[in-house]
Amino acid sequence: MKLILLGVPGSGKGTQGRLLAEHFRATHISSGELLRAHLTDLTGSGTGVGEYVRAGELVPDEVVLSLLHEPVMAALERGGYILDGFPRTLAQAELATEHALGLGATPDAVAYLEIPDATVRRRLLGRSAEGRLDDSDAAVIERRLQIFHEATQPLLGYYSDRGLLVTVDASGTPEEVEARTLAALKARL
Ligand code: AP5
Repeated sequence: MKLILLGVPGSGKGTQGRLLAEHFRATHISSGELLRAHLTDLTGSGTGVGEYVRAGELVPDEVVLSLLHEPVMAALERGGYILDGFPRTLAQAELATEHALGLGATPDAVAYLEIPDATVRRRLLGRSAEGRLDDSDAAVIERRLQIFHEATQPLLGYYSDRGLLVTVDASGTPEEVEARTLAALKARL
């Protein structure tokens, strides 16, 4: 399975990514987790990536692409990928499509986890106790939502035009959302 998950911050991309990776025996790859794991290295090397992440701004494309290349290639050898957090802009989607064509990495489907902003505001503020810096400031959460609506939402049209998009109601428990996603994918694939 090669699946891209789209959704506002807090819509459950990471949670569903883990569940669906287990279901499909594929690899969950989160661009945000990769960036957080490499934050010290990247900041140390002078790219200032930490500042982007803390402020809720998008990290430059070349940094994200270079972090994703190896895990995606490895995942293609092991049952495919469940990709969460990438692409986030039309420019990234076009780069991804271009790279994927030559590598046999084109997604089988793109699942949009649809949920109201009000629900995710509560979830993200609730998670701030776990230490993610971009969850602890309401203004940063608003900025992340704004970037989704301005820069990422146009990807729904991009993937719908390519016949890849399924939309899933992402309210309810993680297990309910997983079951809806699997049913939507089954109907689509
Ligand atoms: P990223 O890590 O991708 O963060 P995000 O998109 O803001 O998403 P979250 O991880 O906050 O939420 P999620 O949708 O994964 O939901 P989750 O399952 O965690 O990106 C962080 C930053 O990295 C970006 O702001 C940017 O700076 C940079 N970045 C990343 N990718 C980039 C790219 N491609 N280009 C440029 N920059 C990039 O759930 C959230 C919470 O809700 C959890 O507490 C969870 O337990 C709970 N929850 C989940 N599902 C449910 C449910 N069904 N019911 C109740 N609670 C639930």
